[in-house]
Amino acid sequence: MTTKIAVFASGSGSNFQAIQEAIAHGEVNANIELVITDNPGAFVVTRANNFGIPVLELAPKTYENKAAYEAKIIEYLKEKDVEWVVLAGYMRLVGENLLAAYENRIINIHPSLLPSFPGKDAIGQAMAHGVKVTGVTVHYVDAGMDTGTIIAQGAVDVIEGDREGTEARVHTLEHALYTSTLKQLFEQ
Ligand code: GRF
Repeated sequence: MTTKIAVFASGSGSNFQAIQEAIAHGEVNANIELVITDNPGAFVVTRANNFGIPVLELAPKTYENKAAYEAKIIEYLKEKDVEWVVLAGYMRLVGENLLAAYENRIINIHPSLLPSFPGKDAIGQAMAHGVKVTGVTVHYVDAGMDTGTIIAQGAVDVIEGDREGTEARVHTLEHALYTSTLKQLFEQ
């Protein structure tokens, strides 16, 4: 059975694109029913439009509170029969209602070897710390910041003094690790 997923993203959406391409090539047995962004106008919207995938652009500050914002999201997810939520550069903590609605069905990708360097700018944090090896983690989402159970990890050698080059390596690995993890998850 093809798994129905939603991808949440706040920015460029290169991970979204990698996932969609893997689906299109028959590598991942899933269908992206919906892209949701909390950042209207983000580049991920253009990417989703190019693939003809429905996009929901929601500005959280136009809602009374997080629960109301997420209630709207849950409504759309249920309407589309979404089974799994895939966070791909979604820069927001998931609240209790959404976590409860998709218990153990929300995953995230983070650009470090967790538990090192959670939160924002993980690549910058790693380089500032002077680590020689960093990486990528795919994990289940819980109420914390990048704290859920780890599903998969991969390592990247830091290129000293070259943030751009290191970032490129991390992103290339992200795309490969996220798609291979989704492939495995949705085969089970
Ligand atoms: C990725 O590095 C992801 O790990 C992090 O945010 C970035 C999103 O990149 N959480 P993109 O929008 O998928 O290009």
